[in-house]
Amino acid sequence: MNEASQRVKVTLPMLFEKKQKREPITMLTAYDYPLALLEDRAGIDIILVGDSLGMTVLGYDSTLPVTMDVMVVHAQAVRRGAKYAFVIGDMPYMSYQISPAEAVRNAGRFMAEAGCDGVKLEGGAAMAPAVKAIVSAGIPVMGHLGITPQSMSMLGGFRSQGRSAEAALRIVKDADALFEAGISMLLLEGVPPEVGKCISERLPIPVISIGAGPYCDGQLLIVHDALGFFDRFTPKFVKKYADLSAVISAALEQYKQEVATKQFPGPEHCYKMIPGEAQSFMEEVAKLEPVKDAGGKVS
Ligand code: KIV
Repeated sequence: MNEASQRVKVTLPMLFEKKQKREPITMLTAYDYPLALLEDRAGIDIILVGDSLGMTVLGYDSTLPVTMDVMVVHAQAVRRGAKYAFVIGDMPYMSYQISPAEAVRNAGRFMAEAGCDGVKLEGGAAMAPAVKAIVSAGIPVMGHLGITPQSMSMLGGFRSQGRSAEAALRIVKDADALFEAGISMLLLEGVPPEVGKCISERLPIPVISIGAGPYCDGQLLIVHDALGFFDRFTPKFVKKYADLSAVISAALEQYKQEVATKQFPGPEHCYKMIPGEAQSFMEEVAKLEPVKDAGGKVS
């Protein structure tokens, strides 16, 4: 039996078992088919189709312009690439805040149209009604506390959260409220390790860190940060495992150079005519009338 045939699709009970056994859960974002395929091959447990794609892929300054329609297209591409990972669709700005009914409708789109395994939404106790409604529809929800990029305006930028006792306690209480509303997993972003440890020990669900320290049940990075493919800014918690921007830039410059100097394409990149056909082809072309000038030239 080869490695692929031994693998099984990651389920929620498997993620809970990892927490119980203290086996760290691995999570990355992906926004398209090729990266999802590679992450799945690497055995990543959870893939988040994050609305961070607004910044990493679409070039916006924030995640706010990202819509459900855009998210569904990317989630579909990720699902095609990821057969085994637990795929989570990230609910974009204003897709769940207006009413629990809209939250359910939009969460359902990730499941029905893209084949996701669950959804993620940002916010604390105020989001409990939306969480309850989505969970009642049978859809697993991951909460998201700490730095919540959709609330940048309220937070005053991408600044770490929960650094005072009072602020840390607020995050713990929000985590409790989300858990009581029915979340299956929680993502903690940009908080001190003490807060990550406290919440991971307090809640019986997998708690994943993105900049919340080493004591959580798993770790998430934005894949473009981890691969060095997004250099507008790099949060403190990012570790770069590659420098793709440099690799890609070098390749692009070499391509331009080789085309400009006619080094590319070489004979090895050209199709061969069937033996003897080139000669007949040239003879037939020589018999053609010259082309008529239809005025398409640049004068
Ligand atoms: O959209 C995203 O990728 C996220 C991360 C910032 C955690 O929500």
